[in-house]
Amino acid sequence: MASANLLEVRDLRVSFPLPNRGADSFVRAARGVSFGLSRGEILGIVGESGSGKSVTTSAIPSLLPAHAIVTGSVLYEGRELLGLSGEELRAYRGRKIGMIFQEPGRSYDPLQTMGGAFFETLRNADPRISRTDANRRAAELLADVGLDDAGRRLASYPHQFSGGQLQRIGIALALAQGCDLLIADEPTTALDVTIQAQIVALLRGIRDRRGIAVVFISHNIDLVASVADRLLVMYGGLVMESGPARAVLESPAHPYTKALLAAAPRFGAHCSEGRLQSIPGRVPDPTRHEPGCPFAPRCPRAIPACAAAIPEMASPATSGTDREYRCILEPEAAT
Ligand SMILES: Nc1ncnc2c1ncn2[C@@H]1O[C@H](COP(=O)(O)OP(=O)(O)OP(=O)(O)O)[C@@H](O)[C@H]1O
Ligand SMILES: [Mg+2]
Repeated sequence: MASANLLEVRDLRVSFPLPNRGADSFVRAARGVSFGLSRGEILGIVGESGSGKSVTTSAIPSLLPAHAIVTGSVLYEGRELLGLSGEELRAYRGRKIGMIFQEPGRSYDPLQTMGGAFFETLRNADPRISRTDANRRAAELLADVGLDDAGRRLASYPHQFSGGQLQRIGIALALAQGCDLLIADEPTTALDVTIQAQIVALLRGIRDRRGIAVVFISHNIDLVASVADRLLVMYGGLVMESGPARAVLESPAHPYTKALLAAAPRFGAHCSEGRLQSIPGRVPDPTRHEPGCPFAPRCPRAIPACAAAIPEMASPATSGTDREYRCILEPEAAT
């Protein structure tokens, strides 16, 4: 694994007990996820619904529900975050680790002006900030995320903005406390293709200007690859493949990555252009604990050994150690 100087996630496991299904019934949402992130790096996490993307990233600032069972390690600047108290975590949430989510409109109080939202957020970092200073800072942040006429718009309410504008405001709020890491969980899924492209360009611009690290999550591998330096492909709570985004896109090593690429709508293209293959079969039931590769039942290359044990992560023979994949088969030659 590449050395990381900001965040190091090691063997992260998250499960949720299902008491109404029996004492030892549980969902295994993350099953030993490891990755690193350097300052200024954009990591893209991709995978179908239920693959464990949100659970993995919510575990970083300990935002999982209290009944989640979490083991492993989340080192942020060398400090273990798992097991910190709520008080200690407050120094990380927002201040060091910012988050933005899908459907930006839902995160706002409909009765609060944007100026009010910024005032509250900025007060977390500086309890003595005045409303005038908060407004000035908010206008700067909004200008930085490309919202026109930022100062005047602080008096507006959430419903007076478009979805794309709200996502820009969400990014500005996430940056307001000066975070070093921004976790963006499907930030463009609710937006149309043109606005998606603008938000992706904005995130890259912010990374370039501020040198912050970004984790960008999406179902769409083409979209993720257009923004990320490195990719993490997840399935069934496991990392199936990781490596530099361009290399993974050009020569996917894992059959699952290949299937995702075949199923992705080309970023920026109209849906009617080209044929969209969906991946046959269904995502695995996370409450059933099969011993083998979770993708085996849907994999066109599966052999009986695939069902026996989960393969270890390994570098493909033809690539450097910055690429890894979890499959007992040699990668197929690029077609
Ligand atoms: N609070 C919870 N209680 C029980 N199971 C949960 C909980 N949160 C998530 N899960 C389960 O954990 C698994 C991983 O969920 P997660 O939300 O991380 O998927 P995801 O990759 O983010 O999917 P999506 O693309 O739909 O957002 C799923 O099977 C989900 O149902
Ligand atoms: Mg999710």
